[in-house]
Order: sequence, then structure tokens, then C-alpha cells
Amino acid sequence: MSGFNYSGGSVADSGHESFDFDNIANRALDHCRKWDAGIVRGKYPDTPDGFIPMWIADMDFAAAPCIRAALRELSENGAYGYTYPYRELADSIVGWQARRHGAEVRPEWVKNTYGTVPTIHYLYQAFCQPNDKVILNTPVYDPFGYAARNNGIRVVCNPLAYDGGEYSIDFDLLERQLDTEHPRVMLFCSPHNPGGRTWTLTEIEQVAELCERYGVLFVVDEVHGDIMLSGVHVSALSLPGRLLDNLIVLSSPNKGFNLGGLKTSYVIVPSRRIRDILLHRLEMNSITSPNVFGAVAVTAAYERGEAWLDALTEYLREGYRMCEEAVARMTGWRLMPMSASYLPWVDVSATGHTATEVCEHMAHEAGVVLGDGTFYVEGGLSFVRLNLGTSHEILARSFERLSRHQLVE
Ligand SMILES: Cc1ncc(COP(=O)(O)O)c(C=O)c1O
Repeated sequence: MSGFNYSGGSVADSGHESFDFDNIANRALDHCRKWDAGIVRGKYPDTPDGFIPMWIADMDFAAAPCIRAALRELSENGAYGYTYPYRELADSIVGWQARRHGAEVRPEWVKNTYGTVPTIHYLYQAFCQPNDKVILNTPVYDPFGYAARNNGIRVVCNPLAYDGGEYSIDFDLLERQLDTEHPRVMLFCSPHNPGGRTWTLTEIEQVAELCERYGVLFVVDEVHGDIMLSGVHVSALSLPGRLLDNLIVLSSPNKGFNLGGLKTSYVIVPSRRIRDILLHRLEMNSITSPNVFGAVAVTAAYERGEAWLDALTEYLREGYRMCEEAVARMTGWRLMPMSASYLPWVDVSATGHTATEVCEHMAHEAGVVLGDGTFYVEGGLSFVRLNLGTSHEILARSFERLSRHQLVE
């Protein structure tokens, strides 16, 4: 790994040529979980030195120069006292949502939070009582499920339909479940993780309509909408006004700009009534002023980071092409076509092995740590998740190792 390169001194990121994704950051310095040998060996005890981590959704690139410059300025100024949700922060979110996602957001709809996963916990607490139900399209990002369990809330799974291509929603089943199970909340992942499926406005509207009809709060996690390998992200905020009254959108720059460790995110809640309920719960837990570094990073990313994000996306597209070729060479592996984010979802059922067996084998034999689909609430037992968020050189090495150590019956 190369060391940190802090040479990106310009405040606004403007040209692709100045971004270097081939030399990754020194992930020892930030104690990156994904790279930590102790944590990895806690899962896969015989993982050799020199392993390549393709599991947690964390990218290895140094952040955009504009973000690093903004954090450096704050850091060197030396004052890290209490801040508040200042107007520039909300304006940067409003501007980003309008420019990148065509969503009209009023500043008063935005509330800062301390990470999307904690927000899901507070949200469940705000809108559910213990033993109530939430409904999820499974498989899905596992905190959607464990946040419910952590709060004594039951999960109703609406399995995504799979026929060897990309996922789709079984609307008839969904309607029956909303009608008979009476969940309080539907937590919808858009784009979907895992699988990287972008839902169309028609699909989102159909889910939103059903939720409204059955009195279920519609919550949409759009954290993966910033990296679009193809097509455009469709925000639930583009729904007709009537449906906005039953909507909460969760987002953060933590996937697109890889800022997860700053624990800074936000909710967008158009309805005053729903906003008041959620804000009350946030206040009960003193979720008030943002992290001083996080707020500066979000503002820099959203106001000056577009060129970097576009260049990153182009780099990830090339990584995805490498992945398509590599998976095609793997016996029994089938890549789900994806349009968003950097986390390919691969069906390994034709190997005759479970995802857990494939992951254990690849950690021990190939020194490549994959994401085990078993953890995605339900329906992922024969899928593994990869991570393209690293240099092409590391990706090539990883694919070469996977191909050399194939697990077939
Ligand atoms: C769907 C989804 N939501 C939220 C997160 C985490 O967001 P945050 O870093 O804002 O907590 C992830 C991380 O991978 C994710 O996949």
C-alpha cells in the first residue's frame, strides 16, 4: 500500500487528471476494519498474511481533494468545539439533491443524524412499539434486520424475485403482506444493496402507493444513489406530492464519498407531522449538533466534489468490466447485473457449495475475504458479495487468486 498523499491542495475539484485512484490510502492509519487482520481472522481463522479484503463496503481511495483540504483547514485551525446544523450544511444537501438527483428539497425537511444505521434504530423506535413489524425486501443490508431485532421489532420478509437476472419485486405478495401482517414501516433500499438494482420510478411509486393504502410508513434508504455505473438514480423525492406525506428518505455521502467513519448522515422528511415524531425521538437521544468534521466534509463533498465523484465512478466502471470478465471465468459463479454502487452480488449456487463454504475456502486458500450473503437478513445463502472499491491492480490480483483457487464439486 502506498502512504497518504496530501498533495491535493486545490479547494475545488475540477479535473479528472488530478485524481489518482491507482494508489490507495494507507488503511492502517485509520484502523480500517475491513483490512484488520485480527477482525478478519476472528471470522476466518487461517486467513494468510497479505489477504485482500472484498467484504465491508468501504473503498480504499483517499477522499476527494476538496474534502481533504476542508478537513485539513479545520484541523490546522485547531478549534473543534460544539457546532450546530448551520444553513450552509442544509443548503449543500438541498443543492446536491437537486443537481444530482433532480429532487426538490426544502431546507427545513433536512435533519442531520449520526450515521444511517443509528438513524434506522431511532426511526424504528419512533414509529414502532416492541412486537410491531417492519417489512423488508430480502435479501437486504443486514442492519435493516438487526436494528429491528435490537428493538424487539419483528421482521416480515418480502423476498425479491430472482430468475437468474436482476431482482424484482413481487407486488402481489407485498400487497397481501401489507394487508395481513400490518407492518408499521416499510424500509426500502434504493438502489438496492445487495445487487445494485436501481428501481424505476414506476416501481417506487407502486410500493409507495401500497404503503399509503395500507397505512405503512414508507422509508427509503438512498445511500447508494451517488455511484451510478449506468442509468440514473431515481429518488423517492420525485414521487407525486401526495405520496411525499408518507415518506422518509435516509441518505449520506458515506458511500459515494466513502466518509462512513465520520458518522454523519441526514434524513429528509417532507411531512411536518412525521418529521415532528422523528425529531422528538432524536431529541430524546440528544441527536442535535453534527460532528464538526463531518459537517465540513459533507459540505465540501456536496459543494465541490462532483468532478471527483464522476472520475471515481468512471474508475469503478472499469473495475466492474474487470469483474464481469473475471466472474465469467469462474465455474459456477453468476454475476447479477448491477447499475449502482461498487458491490457486485454473485450467485454461487452452481458451485454446489453454500456462500459460507465459498467464503471460508477463499479466505483460507486464496487469501481473499468475500462478503457472505448469509448475513443479508434472508435469501442470500448462495450469494457472495464483492467490493470493487480498490485499485485495479489489487482487483486484478484478487480475481487472479479467486480463479486459481476455485471451489467446485
Ligand atoms: C443500504 C445501506 N445503508 C446505509 C449504509 C451505511 O450508511 P452510513 O455510513 O451512513 O451509516 C450502508 C453501508 O454499506 C448501506 O449499504
